Amino acid sequence: MSARIENDRFETVGCLQDYRIGEKLGSGSHGSIYHTCCDENEIEDINNCEYVTKEVKFNRYNNIRSFRQEVLLQKKAARHHLAPEIVKTEIKGTGGIFVMKKVYQTLYDHLLQNDDEDMADKIYSALTSLINLKIHHNDFHIRNIMMDKHYNVLLIDFGKSTTIEEGKSNECLNKDFDKLIDTVMSEELSVPKFLKRLIELHRSSFAFKPKNTKSRNKSVKRKSKNTKRKSKSTI
Ligand SMILES: Nc1ncnc2c1ncn2[C@@H]1O[C@H](COP(=O)(O)OP(=O)(O)OP(=O)(O)O)[C@@H](O)[C@H]1O
Ligand SMILES: [Mg+2]
Repeated sequence: MSARIENDRFETVGCLQDYRIGEKLGSGSHGSIYHTCCDENEIEDINNCEYVTKEVKFNRYNNIRSFRQEVLLQKKAARHHLAPEIVKTEIKGTGGIFVMKKVYQTLYDHLLQNDDEDMADKIYSALTSLINLKIHHNDFHIRNIMMDKHYNVLLIDFGKSTTIEEGKSNECLNKDFDKLIDTVMSEELSVPKFLKRLIELHRSSFAFKPKNTKSRNKSVKRKSKNTKRKSKSTI
């Protein structure tokens, strides 16, 4: 593997030993995912370790900036248990890699076996938490939503994610939800209960109010002060 960039702001937070990359586990339109070991003791069975590496090749559409953005936003989500933790990042001339915790399965694989309406609620909750962190996922589909063995939702693939501008939270939430419903429907999965619940939640999401109203409260207070001042002066 390539040399690490020293003092890079993607500091190493785990995986201090050299990591080993195993077989390819999957690939998407941006990169490939490989089984990975970080712990020396685990290395005997590389394809059964607790980590995976995502390799992203730089090209016209993916550059170092978008790679950094992907890592930073996933790290932010991971701090709130909404994404797998990233333990190592490297950049080389032709691309970047990051090592993250391996997650049990995708929503797609889960839905192949279960028409699980409770999972719709968990996904809604994860998505609203992400929106409250001002992250717009922007590629919210059934292979980018994963879960651990306890059915906790973990979101992956922040390659198209952006930060949310003031006042756009609802729009972003609804876009992500639309994409999810579209992909569930287009995959012809037999999950009527899950889909029904997802659509109910989508309807309710139109009234979604983002958390963290601090700044809004301040401006409300400021307004009311002004009104008091005004009303005094008119007396
Ligand atoms: N942390 C992980 N643990 C286990 N499997 C993973 C993990 N991250 C990704 N995968 C698997 O690899 C696949 C591709 O990963 P990812 O979506 O990040 O790549 P991508 O190239 O950006 O894909 P896309 O086609 O959605 O743009 C996932 O759908 C999933 O099956
Ligand atoms: Mg993906």
